[in-house]
Amino acid sequence: MITIDSLTRDYGAGKGIFDVSFSVDKGETFGFLGPNGAGKTTTIRHLLGFLKPVSGKCEINGLDCWADRDKIQAKLGYIPGEISFFDDMTGTEYLRFMEQYRKLGTESRKEELLTFFQLDPQAKLKKMSKGMKQKIALVVAMMHDPAILIFDEPTSGLDPLMQNKFIDFINTEKKRGKTILLSSHMFEEVERTCDRIGIIRNGRLVTVNPVQELRNRHIRSYTVTLETEELATAFAKDFYGTQNGRNVTVTAKQSLEDIFIHYYRGEQID
Ligand SMILES: Nc1ncnc2c1ncn2[C@@H]1O[C@H](COP(=O)(O)OP(=O)(O)OP(=O)(O)O)[C@@H](O)[C@H]1O
Ligand SMILES: [Mg+2]
Repeated sequence: MITIDSLTRDYGAGKGIFDVSFSVDKGETFGFLGPNGAGKTTTIRHLLGFLKPVSGKCEINGLDCWADRDKIQAKLGYIPGEISFFDDMTGTEYLRFMEQYRKLGTESRKEELLTFFQLDPQAKLKKMSKGMKQKIALVVAMMHDPAILIFDEPTSGLDPLMQNKFIDFINTEKKRGKTILLSSHMFEEVERTCDRIGIIRNGRLVTVNPVQELRNRHIRSYTVTLETEELATAFAKDFYGTQNGRNVTVTAKQSLEDIFIHYYRGEQID
């Protein structure tokens, strides 16, 4: 559904994105992780047709993201990393404006979404808190029930309760067959929602892995040799290990967060 092929935008001084390629299948939720300045937003802006590829290309549902950007933008649900609104409107006015712009009638999911995210949109946008603005962006991105959702750090500014609600929401949308690209800094958020995760560092995609594979791969076992069998018995008991004479074998599970931190720092992991 989403294909990115050798996408490159060189901002100079080593900044930008370089030869980024990955794809997101229909019905799949793909997590796009990486440290600040890694290139997530730059990649996503190409998908929306806000940036023209210098080299490489990207397509959504067979349409070229640059040449067919009007068609694509009308179909997608998109949450930008940095939100800017027409500040002088109230939330209510802005949402109505977006409904009219998209020619939505009774099929609009606006009311349902406002209730779900517990938002009263009557205040002026410029007086809204960061979290309230983020909720407005969520409602706008999803009111037309798009088949493809592209979210750039959608939960920044949301409190933990709302972040949880958002995760539930994503998982419900996923069950409804949506294709979702989710950029995030939050390991838990991607772990609880995504099928595959790509990690970008310094503008380069360093790894793409199914979440399940990452989970399975990182169960490690260690064998420790103690001075006496008595010590080994005590050690095995304390650490739920398996004893064999003075040797005790224990298994330890590396958390996904540990794995991500390794990738973030650019360390090799085996
Ligand atoms: N218009 C631009 N001109 C020059 N450099 C830019 C421009 N836009 C982005 N960059 C640089 O490209 C790199 C990637 O930025 P990008 O916004 O894509 O990162 P990000 O992964 O979204 O980071 P964050 O997690 O902080 O949102 C950064 O070093 C940034 O400074
Ligand atoms: Mg960003």
